[in-house]
Amino acid sequence: MEHRHHGKSSAKFLDSDEILNELNLKGNEVFMDVGCGDGYISKKALQDYLPDGFVYAVDNYDGAIKEMESYKKDNSIENLINIEADISKGVSSVEDNSIDVLLMLNVFHGFTEDSHRDAVIKEFSRLIKNEGKIAIMDFRPIELPFGPSLEIKCSPEELEELFNNHGFKKSYLNEEMGPESGEGNTHYIIIFEKE
Ligand SMILES: C[S@@+](CC[C@H](N)C(=O)[O-])C[C@H]1O[C@@H](n2cnc3c(N)ncnc32)[C@H](O)[C@@H]1O
Repeated sequence: MEHRHHGKSSAKFLDSDEILNELNLKGNEVFMDVGCGDGYISKKALQDYLPDGFVYAVDNYDGAIKEMESYKKDNSIENLINIEADISKGVSSVEDNSIDVLLMLNVFHGFTEDSHRDAVIKEFSRLIKNEGKIAIMDFRPIELPFGPSLEIKCSPEELEELFNNHGFKKSYLNEEMGPESGEGNTHYIIIFEKE
């Protein structure tokens, strides 16, 4: 059984600027927010980080995509495409080698089966440009009074091994993301690039 959190947002406990600053965006990138939820990261990226860029917000929950569509329409945003899709099955409307920066925030831990993890990373590999970056931010594997259970949290080392198997190498790791928990910070961000 996969672990799912349709429509949950990290906005209450993770600061969008803290996350987006880690990505060193120049402002003209094609960005993909996979498992965008309420889209608080996509919206912030469009407002403050990507004046000449483009955002794909992807989620498999129709409610999340409907809300993003209303946001796009109400604010007349042209450089945003919202896509309802299951990343493990593929985002077929987006071409190969078209994304500069892909972010997956608090989503990867939901893929608990090896076959799904492999399918997700394969799809990332198809979507990302050769010089692009994949940023995975997720819960550190420590007990917390909120968030996913400890058993399904994936350590940065575990992720690195999975991505290495698909031809990616780690280019950056910060294990001091999110609020302090008493056992270090709640989150890490790890960035991969094609080898
Ligand atoms: C815990 S929420 C995080 C939302 C957002 N990234 C944030 O941090 O605020 C996980 C999101 O991933 C979406 N999701 C889960 N599995 C997915 C899949 N296979 N493909 C696309 N989106 C998925 C859920 O619908 C949900 O909106």
